[in-house]
Amino acid sequence: MNKGLFITIEGPDGSGKSTQIKRLKDYFNSKGYMAVFTREPGGTAISEKIRELILDKESKEMAGMAEALLYSASRAQLVAEVIGPAIDRGETVICDRFLDSSIAYQGYGRELGDCIRTINEYAVQGYIPDLTLLMKINPKLGKERIPQKDLDRIEAEKQAFHRRVYEGYLNMEKEYDRFVGIDASRSVEDISAVIIERVEALMRIRGVI
Ligand code: ADP
Ligand code: TYD
Repeated sequence: MNKGLFITIEGPDGSGKSTQIKRLKDYFNSKGYMAVFTREPGGTAISEKIRELILDKESKEMAGMAEALLYSASRAQLVAEVIGPAIDRGETVICDRFLDSSIAYQGYGRELGDCIRTINEYAVQGYIPDLTLLMKINPKLGKERIPQKDLDRIEAEKQAFHRRVYEGYLNMEKEYDRFVGIDASRSVEDISAVIIERVEALMRIRGVI
């Protein structure tokens, strides 16, 4: 059996990923397309527990490397329990954040560098996205969209951190053919239309629709 399609959505906090995933899910339902929608950090009971620990504002002392390993642990569980089995069954998987978030946030943001790629090779077990939709927006604008009181531990990081994260994403966009940049400052509807076009094009090429 052919492997399923693996699509991820990435970008700074507040870039509109959740909004677009929800719209894509509604579109899939309206068309009768099948897909597994999931998110990181989280997506399994164990990964959601790890998520709570990482994002808790009380986890102030968390070392950068501990944070990186926890994100990859959450990912390893999601790959083992959900993503890997679905792709092996030939299903399409659409994930809100994945490996590239760690490269951007821990590799560039926390300045831990290339070891993040190495750690994550163990976590992802060869399941690399076929298409990564990168929501491009000035990180300051993205952050302004999120109410101050709702900011989690990572979102509350200083501007310089978020600038480095964004720079990381822009570097990956140049580095990887699977990245497709999307202007996330446009309207919700315009962005949806671009995403649907990209996703359907890939599904057609792969004979999914
Ligand atoms: P993310 O999941 O990337 O953090 P969200 O989808 O939660 O982003 O969006 C963050 C906030 O910005 C929400 O209040 C949402 O309604 C709003 N938003 C999402 N997309 C847009 C857009 N294209 N233009 C303006 N505001 C948006
Ligand atoms: P998420 O809930 O997806 O935030 P948002 O709704 O803004 O997209 O992710 C929580 C935070 O975790 C977000 O600030 C990005 C961060 N993160 C990392 O730092 N490394 C990672 O590997 C992942 C998956 C997320």
